[in-house]
Amino acid sequence: MASTNVFKFRPATLAAGDDRWFVEAWDSTLPYLASIGSTSQWQYIPSNLPGAVSKVKKMIADSDISAQKYPISSPEILLENGTPPLDWNKAYVAEISVNKEHIPVALAEKYSSTSIQGDIVTIPVGAMVLQGKSPEYVRAVIPEQDDKDPFIFLAFLMTDHRAGGLAKGSGSALLNIAKEEVKKLGLKRLCGDCWRGNGRRLVGYYDGQGLKAIGDFDVPKNEQDSWEGAVTEWRA
Ligand SMILES: CC(C)(COP(=O)(O)OP(=O)(O)OC[C@H]1O[C@@H](n2cnc3c(N)ncnc32)[C@H](O)[C@@H]1OP(=O)(O)O)[C@@H](O)C(=O)NCCC(=O)NCCS
Repeated sequence: MASTNVFKFRPATLAAGDDRWFVEAWDSTLPYLASIGSTSQWQYIPSNLPGAVSKVKKMIADSDISAQKYPISSPEILLENGTPPLDWNKAYVAEISVNKEHIPVALAEKYSSTSIQGDIVTIPVGAMVLQGKSPEYVRAVIPEQDDKDPFIFLAFLMTDHRAGGLAKGSGSALLNIAKEEVKKLGLKRLCGDCWRGNGRRLVGYYDGQGLKAIGDFDVPKNEQDSWEGAVTEWRA
């Protein structure tokens, strides 16, 4: 059954401490991934890995800088060849407002009643990062940017699994925001990548959201093993 949750969206920003929440929420996905046999999707605990923590901080810092440089998403920010600037970045948080009685147990300590004024509390439940270029590890499938077929790249998407049912549907809602961004920029293409292990289950999720697989790639982890990915694409 489709989620009936209603979300609000705002830019992620270092000023609100969103980098710390991103990492906590990222950590929260690991028990879920283990429960569906997808431990190999993300094999580390993000908060224990300085590289993951600094990756998150950089994504949000880049988004803050980009918000200053490109405050409005419109075709005017596109380069002469019609591509988005490579330094265009936009990180989003999806939030939900609930009565404080409905705060999930896993978040009860974080939102202790003393820190809440009134009966309603607004909880971040989903996160997304969009970028004006593809990451290096997908370049076997798509270039950094493509002036014949320009795109925005979905660099990160997750929901806070501590929020339980309150987060359900926030990933899909954020993908709708990404599609709107593509249209606002006058573009027609959203690309992304995901893990294709565990029977391509996550590829199937994206397919259901309209992001179709357009090619597979492998990132070597060591001499024997590699991280198996797929690039996905949605067209307006
Ligand atoms: C993928 C995600 C953002 C989707 O959020 P959403 O649109 O709000 O949808 P839901 O969380 O309700 O998930 C819907 C279905 O997607 C599938 N799914 C979600 N994450 C999955 C994953 N990593 N691998 C395989 N299937 C996944 C499940 O079938 C899930 O159904 P279930 O709840 O019955 O198990 C969110 O589920 C999530 O954070 N997953 C873990 C982290 C992740 O894989 N992020 C994407 C990285 S590319």
